[in-house]
Formats: sequence, structure tokens, C-alpha cells
Amino acid sequence: MAATGSTTRAQTYAILRQNNFSPSGRRWRSLHLLALGAGLLAVALSTIDNLADGFQRTLTAIIVIVAGIFCILWVLKLSLHAPAMTTLARVISNERATLASVLVVFIMILISAATATHLFEGAGQPKEFGSIPAALWWAVVTLTTTGYGDVIPHTVGGKMIGSVVMVCGILVLALMTGILATGFAEEERRREYLRVWDQVTKVPMFTELGTVTLSEIVSKLRVRHYPARIVVVRRDEPGDSMFFISGGEVEVRLPRDSVRLGQGGFFGEMALLDRLPRNATIATTEPTTLLVLYASDFYAIASHIPSLVEAVEKEARRRRIANESAEKGAPK
Ligand code: CMP
Repeated sequence: MAATGSTTRAQTYAILRQNNFSPSGRRWRSLHLLALGAGLLAVALSTIDNLADGFQRTLTAIIVIVAGIFCILWVLKLSLHAPAMTTLARVISNERATLASVLVVFIMILISAATATHLFEGAGQPKEFGSIPAALWWAVVTLTTTGYGDVIPHTVGGKMIGSVVMVCGILVLALMTGILATGFAEEERRREYLRVWDQVTKVPMFTELGTVTLSEIVSKLRVRHYPARIVVVRRDEPGDSMFFISGGEVEVRLPRDSVRLGQGGFFGEMALLDRLPRNATIATTEPTTLLVLYASDFYAIASHIPSLVEAVEKEARRRRIANESAEKGAPK
């Protein structure tokens, strides 16, 4: 069963990805082209006058089937470019218990509202409120705050129930939105944590830290991917973050010379330590991955992880001395 499932999945993936050159990919593409050919032939033949009715119907059926298959393929293809769909599925799965309890509240209000309005409005509007199932349409439209206005209560009791249902509708929708928004934020935080964890292992000054300290810093770092020749920090601009290089290389353009920093290096610390503008412009020389640490987090971890901040301060001191010597024109 699992094997069939994975084969179906692989085959679907093969159909959707045009650049899949595996035998199953080719087979599915041939089928795809065959369907396309059949569709085109059917369209061409259907333009001939005085075709037999049965034949004309067959051609129409072929055109409809082929068009249906292509529409489905296009919609499925969109899913290849929508990683948010997987996130949404995960969020719904993670929050299913909370969502289910809100749904139960929703159903309870819905049935109570339909029953109450049936009692108040049933006699006056038998078509719309004559039975609880009939009154459910008004209850759904009101509780979801859609309010088509095709069915409205006429009695005072019915209107009062309507008002309560509308307010409940807003509350239920607000609850649903809150649950989903929090779920999305949580899921994104977990993904970012994994992305950072992956990159942190490439920076030796982090791997030397213990697991507990490391997990604390991982939650404060952000991964940023840059293409080649992109300016990351500009001289004289205020600095609000520092960067650790987990892959690639950057060029530090100082007033007199330039220095290259590779994987494991860091920059942007001097503006945070000295609270001065950036003293160099830094650009990537190749596709580069950086771990960003914002100033507020840098100051926050200074007391928790003194060894890391000391190492950063030590290197900053060395750079300051090197820059001062270069300014004076003395050999470094
Ligand atoms: P900051 O001043 O925040 O921004 C520019 C950065 O360039 C600076 O922090 C340092 O991280 C880096 N930098 C400055 N001087 C040198 C140097 N001599 N060698 C390597 N990096 C440097």
C-alpha cells in the first residue's frame, strides 16, 4: 500500500516536473503529449460540417476530458511553487484540537440560533423558518457574518437573536484567525530554528559552545542568503546588527585597503561595540549565507555567553589596531 502510494506520488511529481528525465517521467510526458494530440485532433475534426451526431458527441467528450485533465495539471503545478500549502496543512494538523473545539462552539451556536429563530419566526415566515433545517441557512449566513439579507427575522425576539448571533460570529472568526495566525508564526519560528541550526554548525565559534548555550543563540539568529556582489553593510551608516559567515565570502572595503572574510568569520561587530557608524563597506564576492544577530539580542546574550562576546571583542580590538596602523601609514 505504502509502495503504491509512493509510486503514485512519484509519478504525479514526474508529470508535473517537465525536467524530470527518469523513465517514469518520460512515460508520463508521452501520455501528456498523447492527450494533447488527441485534444487537438478532436478540435480540428469538430470543425467539419455535417458530422454524425454520435461522432460529434464523442469529439465533444474528448475535448472536455482533455481540457479537464490540463486544468487539473495546471492547478496541481501551482502546488509545486506553493510551499505555503505544506505549512498550512501542518498548521491545521498542529492546531486541530483547538480548531475542533472552536468548531464545536460554532456548531452549538448555529443549532441554538436556528432553533430559537424557528420558534420566533416559524409562524410568520414558514418558508424560511418553518423548520430547524430551513432556519439553518439564515443561521449560517448570519454567524459567518456574510449577511446576504435574503432572509431576515421580523419579530423582536428574532432580531435580538440575530444580534447575538452576529456578535458571536465575529468572536468565533476572531478566535479562528488568532489560532491560525499563532500556528503560522509558531511553525515559521520552528522552521527558522532548523534553518539556523543547519548553518550554525558551519561556524566554529558557535560549535565550541555547549548545546544549551548554542540553542539559546540559535533562537536569536536569522539566516540570510545573498547573491554575489551585493553590499551588505555600507560605511558611515548606523549599525543595528552583526553577521556571521556560514558559507561564501565577503570583501571588507576599508579606506586604505580591503580584506576578505570567509566561512566562520564575522563582521559588523564594531558598530555594536563602539556604538559608532559602520567603518567599512562590506560586499559579497560569491553567493554567501550569513547569520544575522540584531543589536538588542547581541547585548542580551553578552551577559549569558561571555566567551562568545569576549572572542568578538578580542577580534574587534585587533581590527581597530590594524586599521589605526593603516591610517597612520605604518605597516600592519
Ligand atoms: P562595523 O564598523 O560595524 O562595520 C564594518 C565592519 O568591517 C566592522 O564593523 C568590522 O566588522 C569590519 N572590519 C573593520 N575593519 C576590519 C579589518 N581590518 N579586518 C576585518 N574586518 C574589519
